[in-house]
Amino acid sequence: MNSLAAAALVLCALVPSVLSASNTIAWCYHDPSCNDTNWPVISPRFCNGSKQSPINIVTADATADANLTAFTFTNYDNVSVMDEIKNTGKTVRVSFRSGSSVSGGNLPEAYDGLQFHLHWGNGSSVPGSEHTVNGKRYPMELHIVNIKSSLNGNITQALADPTGLAALGFFIEVMPDATAQPESWKNLTNYLTSISNKDEAVSLVPAFSLDDLLHGVDRTKYYRYYGSLTTPTCDEVIIWTVFKEPIKVSKDLIDLFSTTLRISNSSSPLMTNVYRNVQPTLAVTTQASSASKTCYSLGLLAMSIFLARH
Ligand SMILES: *[C@@H]1O[C@H](CO)[C@@H](O)[C@H](O)[C@H]1NC(C)=O
Ligand SMILES: *[C@@H]1O[C@H](CO)[C@@H](O)[C@H](O)[C@H]1NC(C)=O
Ligand SMILES: *[C@@H]1O[C@H](CO)[C@@H](O)[C@H](O)[C@H]1NC(C)=O
Ligand SMILES: *[C@@H]1O[C@H](CO)[C@@H](O)[C@H](O)[C@H]1NC(C)=O
Ligand SMILES: *[C@@H]1O[C@H](CO)[C@@H](O)[C@H](O)[C@H]1NC(C)=O
Ligand SMILES: *[C@@H]1O[C@H](CO)[C@@H](O)[C@H](O)[C@H]1NC(C)=O
Ligand SMILES: *[C@@H]1O[C@H](CO)[C@@H](O)[C@H](O)[C@H]1NC(C)=O
Ligand SMILES: *[C@@H]1O[C@H](CO)[C@@H](O)[C@H](O)[C@H]1NC(C)=O
Ligand SMILES: [Zn+2]
Repeated sequence: MNSLAAAALVLCALVPSVLSASNTIAWCYHDPSCNDTNWPVISPRFCNGSKQSPINIVTADATADANLTAFTFTNYDNVSVMDEIKNTGKTVRVSFRSGSSVSGGNLPEAYDGLQFHLHWGNGSSVPGSEHTVNGKRYPMELHIVNIKSSLNGNITQALADPTGLAALGFFIEVMPDATAQPESWKNLTNYLTSISNKDEAVSLVPAFSLDDLLHGVDRTKYYRYYGSLTTPTCDEVIIWTVFKEPIKVSKDLIDLFSTTLRISNSSSPLMTNVYRNVQPTLAVTTQASSASKTCYSLGLLAMSIFLARH
C-alpha cells in the first residue's frame, strides 16, 4: 500500500465523519448538548478560533486577485479514483485511491486528493450548504479534501501546518425541469440505499469521474480564504477554495440524501441539516486590485477574501 492510501486509512480511522484530529469528542448536528452552538465548549482548542469556517461570502467585499490563476486537476477524468462510499453517521463520504491532485490557483504546492463528502439540509427546499453567498444558502455543498503533497499523507503533520489541507467547495443547485440528472449523480446516488445506516460502506464500480460530478462548473471562478475544518476539532489548517458556479443536480436526486441516509441504525432519525452554521469574520478588508482587468481579460474571475484578524 502506498503512502497516500495509507494516509487515507489513517484519516478514516481518525475521523468518524469528515476530518478531524480526534474521534473522542462526541459532537453532533442536532442535539443541543452537542450541536455546533456547543462545539466551542466541547472542542474549545480550535472551534472557538478566529479563522473558523464556513463563512458567509460577501461578494462586494471580495476583490479580484491576479494571483488566483487557474488550477490543474490531475486524474479528475479518471473513473478509478473514487474507491468507496460510506455513511459516517454525519455525512456520506467517498474515499479516493491515490493519484488525484490539484495544483495552481495560488496553492503553495500540489495537494493530493483524499476524499469528498457532502453537506445538505432537508431536501431541495430546505437548503444545507455550509458556505453562503450574500446570505444565500444552496441546497447542498460538496467538499473535496486534499493534503499538501510534501507531507506524504501524514495527517498529523497536516493538522500542524496552517496550509496543510486544501478544500474545494462546490455548491449544488437544483437543475430545473429534470429528473435523474446528471447521469454521474444518478449513479452516485444509486448507492445511497446500500449505505442507509451508519458505518455502512460499499465499493464504487468505476463508472464516473470527478469531472463528471463537477460537470458544468467553470473552475476558473472561485473565492479564496484561509479557514478551518467545519467539524470538530475545527483545526485552522485549510486553504479554502469555494467555486462561484454551482453544480446542477435534479431535485429528485438531491432529495435522496435526506430521505435515505440515517444517522445511526434503521430506527434512528434521517440525516438532515448536516452543516455548520456560518462563523463570524471579525472584519473583512478588501484589496484594491489593479490586476482585476488583467484578471478579467484572462477570463478569470477569481476572488480573494481577506479576513482581518484584530
Ligand atoms: C443547538 O443548540 C442550541 C442550544 O445549545 C439551540 O439554541 C440551537 O437552536 C441548536 N441548533 C440546532 C441547529 O439545532
Ligand atoms: C470563546 O472566545 C470568546 C472570545 O474570546 C470568549 O468570550 C468565550 O468565552 C470563548 N468560549 C469558550 C467556550 O471558550
Ligand atoms: C500576489 O503574489 C505576489 C508575489 O507572491 C505578492 O507580492 C502579492 O502581494 C500577491 N497579491 C495579492 C493580491 O495577494
Ligand atoms: C486512474 O486511477 C487509478 C487509481 O488511482 C490509477 O491506478 C490509474 O493509474 C489511473 N490512471 C491513469 C491513466 O492515470
Ligand atoms: C424534513 O422534511 C420532511 C418532509 O417535509 C419532514 O417530514 C421532516 O419533519 C423534516 N425534518 C426535519 C428535521 O425538519
Ligand atoms: C507523521 O508525522 C508525525 C510528526 O512528524 C510522526 O510522529 C508520525 O510518525 C508520522 N506518521 C506517519 C504515519 O508517518
Ligand atoms: C454505475 O454505473 C456503472 C456503469 O454503467 C454500473 O456498472 C453500476 O452498476 C452503476 N452503479 C449503480 C449503483 O447504479
Ligand atoms: C437501534 O439502536 C438503538 C439504540 O442503540 C437500539 O435500542 C435499537 O434496538 C436499534 N434498533 C435496531 C433495529 O437495530
Ligand atoms: Zn465538509
